[in-house]
Amino acid sequence: MSESERKSRSAEWFGKLGKDGFHHRSWMKNQGLPHHLFDGRPVIGICNTWSELTPCNAHFRAIAERVKRGVYEMGGFPLEFPVMSLGETLMRPTTMMFRNLVSMDVEESIRANPIDGVVLLVGCDKTTPALLMGAASCDLPTITVSGGPMLNGRFRGETIGSGTHVWTFDAMVRAGEMSMQDFMDAEACMSRSVGHCMTMGTASTMASMVEALGMGLPTNAAIPAADSRRMTLAHMAGRRAVEMVREDLRMSKVLTRANFENAIRVNGAIGGSTNAVVHLLALAGRVGVDLSLDDWDRLGHDVPCLVNLMPSGRYLMEDFYYAGGLPAVIREIGELINKDALTVNGKTIRDNCQDAECYNREVIHTLDAPFKPHGGIAVLRGNLAPDGAILKPSAASPELMKHRGRAVVFEDIDHYKARIDAPDLEVDETSVMVMKNCGPIGYPGFAEVGNMGLPAKLLQKGVTDMVRISDARMSGTAYGTVVLHVAPEAAAGGPLALVQDGDMIELDVEARRLHLDVPEAELAARRAAWAPRHETYARGWARLYTEHVMQADTGCDLDFLVGASGAAVPKESH
Ligand code: FES
Repeated sequence: MSESERKSRSAEWFGKLGKDGFHHRSWMKNQGLPHHLFDGRPVIGICNTWSELTPCNAHFRAIAERVKRGVYEMGGFPLEFPVMSLGETLMRPTTMMFRNLVSMDVEESIRANPIDGVVLLVGCDKTTPALLMGAASCDLPTITVSGGPMLNGRFRGETIGSGTHVWTFDAMVRAGEMSMQDFMDAEACMSRSVGHCMTMGTASTMASMVEALGMGLPTNAAIPAADSRRMTLAHMAGRRAVEMVREDLRMSKVLTRANFENAIRVNGAIGGSTNAVVHLLALAGRVGVDLSLDDWDRLGHDVPCLVNLMPSGRYLMEDFYYAGGLPAVIREIGELINKDALTVNGKTIRDNCQDAECYNREVIHTLDAPFKPHGGIAVLRGNLAPDGAILKPSAASPELMKHRGRAVVFEDIDHYKARIDAPDLEVDETSVMVMKNCGPIGYPGFAEVGNMGLPAKLLQKGVTDMVRISDARMSGTAYGTVVLHVAPEAAAGGPLALVQDGDMIELDVEARRLHLDVPEAELAARRAAWAPRHETYARGWARLYTEHVMQADTGCDLDFLVGASGAAVPKESH
């Protein structure tokens, strides 16, 4: 056993003589593990979000096996462990309510066990930030493997994208342009292989953020889940995890401010999901990097969108991979990138991407002739959102970027559902739809309902977009002129709570302005009469969450989870 190995975390368990060492090794040996595996070699924890209730991650057992091959090959000792999984399509009220809970599960599972390095297996939207946040608070050498997107959806000869075409088909059904039978026939055609959403939704965005932050190997973002090279990547990540332990390449050495700046710029270049904003703010909080909502606008808004992928464009992640994937994008925006930012393979992001080729300029455009001029996030402020709100220009309608309209107000999601298709709803295409009580506390959990569907009577007239404003999030697969993440949220007493039907609202994206055109005296009177209407909870996670969740502008972590505690646990268990 070498000097460095004697000092490893795992050696504090497995390297002991006496009853403690007996306890730690003997029960492990019931799995058929031979004695030599406890000789001080790096123990690599494989943190697995596999679950049949998380279909996007249902193939992760096979990925874990490939990681193990790589770990063994390099002389490490892999041990796989489960954490709570978050399936976007099934969980109620919304997976976002549990992101921080999973991060606690991850953090405590790593810290409490004899682990020297970590491989995070992530896929469906919230699994990526949850695992990164938890691992960051322990700060061991850590590498991330994303599960990869599904193959392109194909329905009756047409390419269809996860999520994006659900919104499209739903609007067609409600407009009388698609039958319910055809709608149901599209289900299996959309999801035809293992993997996560294959649009540039939140899962693909977060897989790209993993690569741009330097937390995954090059090409992590785009290899389809069903492509054998995804398994090769997992194998190589296992090898690299062992090396990272020997190099003591901890997460905090990779996740510097420079890496976050790169990730924000890459998010602009890929037209990434608005959800990346809250996830990166929360992750930065765990590693002590000073990152703000305004950094998203300042660093990312003017980055042109190069990638022609749904929901902003027409192609899908499979096409993106064949076109060169994220390394080709990073090379293209090379001048905007902090080139010396370190990544988990021990090389800089410049080293990783400087020779990347683009094989299809329809899918990955050049910086000189981008797909859209602005790919990033616009941060809006005004008396309706004193702490900020966001909008994704690349997914919005240019003609609505400056708009003044009459508010049609929904007090919460139930009010919206009950009222949206009412024949007597006073609404036209110039109206501004406003929804309250869908934020972190109000929903609870900050649901993806901000891209509220348009009234059926307007869809039937051929209206395809309207200005919508809420304290909710929206799916990364969604689109429209949608103002999201209004902070403070209505349930926390933000000005959004004071909007009434008929109020005039002004949106000016160029000026970054969101204004409620109501006299201050009238707003003060409404504020005095306001009372919260959201549900409160007597016990359990819902209570802990609603009492401690922070607002969208700071990433929605729990206030007591910000920061890191390291991995040391001096007390023995027996
Ligand atoms: Fe899992 Fe979209 S539902 S990634």
